[in-house]
Amino acid sequence: MAQYFDNVSLPSEIKKVSIRILNTTLEISTDNGVFSKNKLDFGTRLLLENLPLEEIKGKILDVGCGYGPIGLYLKKATDCEVDMCDVNRRALHLAKMNAKANKLDVTIFESNCYENISSIYDVIITNPPIRAGKKVVYEILMNAKEHLTEDGMLFFVIHKDQGAKSTISDLEKIYNVTILEKNKGFFVIKCINR
Ligand SMILES: C[S@@+](CC[C@H](N)C(=O)[O-])C[C@H]1O[C@@H](n2cnc3c(N)ncnc32)[C@H](O)[C@@H]1O
Repeated sequence: MAQYFDNVSLPSEIKKVSIRILNTTLEISTDNGVFSKNKLDFGTRLLLENLPLEEIKGKILDVGCGYGPIGLYLKKATDCEVDMCDVNRRALHLAKMNAKANKLDVTIFESNCYENISSIYDVIITNPPIRAGKKVVYEILMNAKEHLTEDGMLFFVIHKDQGAKSTISDLEKIYNVTILEKNKGFFVIKCINR
């Protein structure tokens, strides 16, 4: 888990990239020690490009926000209220810088899974931290239920080599699950809290 928690000792080397997702552009600063620092991750892009934006309303939580592409994109592409959290302090610092640089009014804070989350959300979205292990991934996916409104939606992306199929069948026990897209082994999943 060193890559998520112990990164403050890595020398900082901020890099600026312009990220275009469908019709939305974000000016992003990234750095050493954060996920997918050179460009938007393929799985994250697939997730965002396949979201049913017309269904996304109200209050959103981006769990494991990294430098912020998911939450910042959704703030720019919808009129939703957006909260974003992570355990990686460097990622949180970048996400705050990026929100400011793109003039997006979002709330960004530290939280290990849902530890510091007291609100209820219409949408929870994540590209989950596979490298943190199955326990953390399952905590984020399964316990989303406790933080979703009735009929609230959880969206996430997962690769077949990261246990997509077994994860989907475990989630089907507690949610209504739909596969929105499959591409290069990645699955984009929508779970409805019913
Ligand atoms: C796959 S990355 C996704 C980052 C960003 N959302 C993106 O799509 O580029 C997963 C993120 O989850 C964060 N993370 C790891 N363990 C976590 C935990 N226990 N609670 C919350 N976030 C965690 C990592 O620091 C990392 O930023």
